[in-house]
Amino acid sequence: MMGTGKVAHIGVFTSGGDSPGMNAAIRAVVRGACAQGLRVTGFLGGYDGLVNGNFRAMGPRDVSNIIQRGGTILRTARSKAFMTAEGRARAASVLREQGIDGLIAIGGDGTFTGADIFFQEHGIPCVGLPGTIDNDLAGTDWTIGYDTAINTAVEAIDRIRDTASSHDRLFFVEVMGRDSGAIALDCAIAAGAEYVLVPEREEHFEQLISAILGSDGAKSSSIVVVAEGETEGGAFTIADQVKKRLPTKDIRVTVLGHVQRGGSPTVHDRVLASRLGIAAVDAILRGEHNCMMGMSHGKVVSSPFPQAIKGVRELDAELFRVLRFLAT
Ligand code: F6P
Repeated sequence: MMGTGKVAHIGVFTSGGDSPGMNAAIRAVVRGACAQGLRVTGFLGGYDGLVNGNFRAMGPRDVSNIIQRGGTILRTARSKAFMTAEGRARAASVLREQGIDGLIAIGGDGTFTGADIFFQEHGIPCVGLPGTIDNDLAGTDWTIGYDTAINTAVEAIDRIRDTASSHDRLFFVEVMGRDSGAIALDCAIAAGAEYVLVPEREEHFEQLISAILGSDGAKSSSIVVVAEGETEGGAFTIADQVKKRLPTKDIRVTVLGHVQRGGSPTVHDRVLASRLGIAAVDAILRGEHNCMMGMSHGKVVSSPFPQAIKGVRELDAELFRVLRFLAT
């Protein structure tokens, strides 16, 4: 989407669940903007920072020594105030008082939904960067933080495998992903798991049982990766059902949880965040608004927010096939 007015002063913030690489993205936005003569203000705590006027001016030195750090120096939140028309009106007046005429938002689908409504109501342009570990946005092959999160999860599952095989145990490992099985599926392949359960697919209990037993019925230890949002009720529920069916199996459940959200970003996430951060500044300078910058086939692309949010990011059937054959 293209606007008309020239942007001179941008606000930047992180919103929603944090993800490794958000700091690298903030750094790229601040330095890319300052290098091109823009003023930059950082808002603290996501949309709450806009609503409450919690901000600070940012220059190139304010983002030194953060590219390697997980979390977000701007902190983040899922703002309840910004979900109300009154909260958004307060945010708009804060931006107008400060002379801020454009926003760069780093977050996920909730963040971009808010930015879209904000533009319709108050006309403040926003360009988004995909900052979420879930890799669930249609407008990009990779979200910032996904690569780090899956590497963290796989390292943990490798450790679980050591103890699983020593004790001939079956482990159910729950990974993050309330609405998306992307983390679970990639981790299952990379960690050599027997099976994966994801929110996007209906489960077939008998297939799960066969995968646990192996094609010769002789597997002694197994790993099953379960996405947090999987439809049967989570790793503990599935483990109970399997125990009833295979009572002699020694079963354990591990929930990896927020360990997946922290840590130093991988090279992939740092480079992705840096490229997309500069691209977002370029886009806002070109007058684009209400679009998310993403990476497709190695090139930076831009998609309108509604498309990036609502476009179905389907899990590739080929990946399930790979897992099935490798788990025999
Ligand atoms: O959206 C990222 C994510 O980590 C999801 O995978 C997970 O379901 C959710 O955030 C957890 O949110 P919270 O940090 O509020 O517990």
